[in-house]
Amino acid sequence: MSAISIIEKRRSYRGRFKPQPVPREHLAAIMRAGLAAPSGCNKQTTSLIAVDDKDILARLLGVIDPPVAATAPAVICVLTRRINAYRDRCFAVQDYSAAIENMLLAAVELGYQSCWYEGHITDTDRICDKMAAILNVPGGYDLVCMLPVGIAEDEPTAPKKQPFEERAWFNSFGSKD
Ligand SMILES: Cc1cc2nc3c(=O)[nH]c(=O)nc-3n(C[C@H](O)[C@H](O)[C@H](O)COP(=O)(O)O)c2cc1C
Repeated sequence: MSAISIIEKRRSYRGRFKPQPVPREHLAAIMRAGLAAPSGCNKQTTSLIAVDDKDILARLLGVIDPPVAATAPAVICVLTRRINAYRDRCFAVQDYSAAIENMLLAAVELGYQSCWYEGHITDTDRICDKMAAILNVPGGYDLVCMLPVGIAEDEPTAPKKQPFEERAWFNSFGSKD
């Protein structure tokens, strides 16, 4: 599959996963794709923890309320450090966003489905902090996102997206040429 066809095929998958475990080499390949992403001034502010141990996974998913990705055989947690790239400019959000998208695409290439779970775990109830404690994440790192990884049981569905012509133009905003 070409990069563009993988990009077009990727969907946020929120259905059930098959119980098959994800081989370590696949998890590592997805994580390597994440760490290969660009980062502002190459500060590499993003770190990752894959969880495939059944007990740790159960504890981790157990603190997510309401539950998501409950049947995932593995997840990748995304950590960030707010290091300034230069002066007072911190690109940590951009850095981990690029890493996440790379991982979502790598997962599709390897036959898995995933979803970018950030809003759900970083809300005022700070589920992310409970997850970080379970994973022994030290101070200075924030757990900001969780990506389930597994083989989908259902067909992923595509959300409606606005037409290209309403969001992208050539040479001038709103141009019809
Ligand atoms: C920053 C960010 C946070 C997100 N957080 C969540 C989330 O907490 N729960 C969820 O189900 N989807 C979450 N998503 C996935 C979006 O809902 C999804 O990308 C969007 O609906 C478009 O669907 P698509 O990914 O299939 O194109 C998040 C996506 C982004 C970029």
